[in-house]
Amino acid sequence: MSLSKTKPPIVLGILISGRGSNMISIAKAIQNGQVNATIGVVISDKPEAPGLEAARALGLTAIAISPRDFSSKTDYEQQLIATFDQHAASLIILAGYMRLVGPTLLDQYPAQILNIHPSLLPAFKGLDAQRQAFDYGVRISGCSVHFVTNELDGGPIVLQEAVPVMSDDSVQTLSHRILDAEHRLLPQAIQLFAEGKLGIKNQKAPII
Ligand code: GRF
Repeated sequence: MSLSKTKPPIVLGILISGRGSNMISIAKAIQNGQVNATIGVVISDKPEAPGLEAARALGLTAIAISPRDFSSKTDYEQQLIATFDQHAASLIILAGYMRLVGPTLLDQYPAQILNIHPSLLPAFKGLDAQRQAFDYGVRISGCSVHFVTNELDGGPIVLQEAVPVMSDDSVQTLSHRILDAEHRLLPQAIQLFAEGKLGIKNQKAPII
């Protein structure tokens, strides 16, 4: 990956819900000089998410904001926006964020929210995508980075990486292979965005 340093680093706001391995891969890619970005803040909707501690161990600001503490999804998402603003985040990354993004967040960040999904979209949307692919018996699966819209896992696709499904795979071994690909793909997509090469046109995400 060639790194363009002509632009100032883009500031990321990362949303997680769990272990945060994709968040860690982004932090490492930044450290290695592969992505021209900084991580402004990591937010988890689940206070118990192991990814919060993992982020702090990397020296990142990591905050739990639970929707249960708000009377509506709008109020919850407004708090997310206020927190992203405090940390000057302008690109939002869903890195294992297990919640539907509502109109409040979508309106605030048009074409500025990326998600990583563990399947070759549009196949196997929703939860447990790796198991869906395994149960279906496909020979090739993979992962996709896409812009987030109001359609679940349905926004314009930015990048995809295919991985083979082996005859002796279990859901676990397949998930592991896909996760390795996720850790490569999401930083690449962020770097494309940082270089100003990504946008949405005619409901697609051409790389310019
Ligand atoms: C990843 O498989 C991602 O594609 C999916 O949730 C998982 C999150 O893993 N949306 P992690 O928290 O980044 O380790």
